[in-house]
Amino acid sequence: MVHGTEGPVSADDRTPQPFKPDQPNSARVYDYLLGGKDNRDTDRNLANEMLADAPEVKTVAWFARSFALKAVRMAAEAGIRQFVDLGSGIPASPNLHEAAREIEPSARVVYVDYDPVVHVHCEALLADPHGVSALLGDIRRPRDIIDQLTTNSLIDFDEPVAILLIGVLHYITDDEDPAGILATFRDRMTPGSYLAITHGSLDTSPEILEVLTATKGTSAQVEFRSAKQTEAFLAGFELFEPGVVPIQQWLRPDLPETRMVMDGAIGRKP
Ligand SMILES: C[S@@+](CC[C@H](N)C(=O)[O-])C[C@H]1O[C@@H](n2cnc3c(N)ncnc32)[C@H](O)[C@@H]1O
Repeated sequence: MVHGTEGPVSADDRTPQPFKPDQPNSARVYDYLLGGKDNRDTDRNLANEMLADAPEVKTVAWFARSFALKAVRMAAEAGIRQFVDLGSGIPASPNLHEAAREIEPSARVVYVDYDPVVHVHCEALLADPHGVSALLGDIRRPRDIIDQLTTNSLIDFDEPVAILLIGVLHYITDDEDPAGILATFRDRMTPGSYLAITHGSLDTSPEILEVLTATKGTSAQVEFRSAKQTEAFLAGFELFEPGVVPIQQWLRPDLPETRMVMDGAIGRKP
């Protein structure tokens, strides 16, 4: 599926398989949580089962979307003209390129996901606007993604770029070396570039963690981490205030706490 130089990922790597309409797909489940239309009965049934035990998953998905839009606006207001959304998911309105282009009409945005289902939706919905692209790529192969972005002239890494990893790093297990992956991207980013991430937190209540970790062995398997571990992923970036905190604190002071805790952070490469 992904052709590249970093060698094959192992057979049990949890990579989503090509379109199987009768099986739930984690990106379509997420699309349903965000109120999208690109989902099927099988996805909605799985989502509703999860929501029965953990209704705040839907609230947190919305907070995460708002956080991503905020990060894009911050970067665009700082003069950044190129954006890479790693683990983009099925397009959701408003899309990140719409937010960026409200501030800079010439902003270039690349949506990257390793799921063929997501890729098909991205290509169909995003193909038209000039400078908005969809790439099939696996974050666990960062050099392949960087190569594709540069050889296809989608991103100029000599200019500042904003890279977003929203709701995706917790799918990457420790043995897949998330810190090394982030270092590969960081080393290619020029000073002034932005990195925005959200990460499922170990402060999440045990009953919600139990629901979410029921996905072990599938492409939706999660590995939640502490705020300190998340902060380490931003090594080499200067963190903006309020630092690594639950994402609602980035948005508005009056938003409620949730039993599912999703940390967010935005950094700038000095
Ligand atoms: C929970 S969704 C988040 C979507 C979007 N970032 C948002 O916040 O609305 C996670 C997405 O990450 C993608 N993903 C997971 N692991 C990935 C990997 N190793 N490489 C690329 N995409 C990945 C999934 O296919 C899915 O579309």
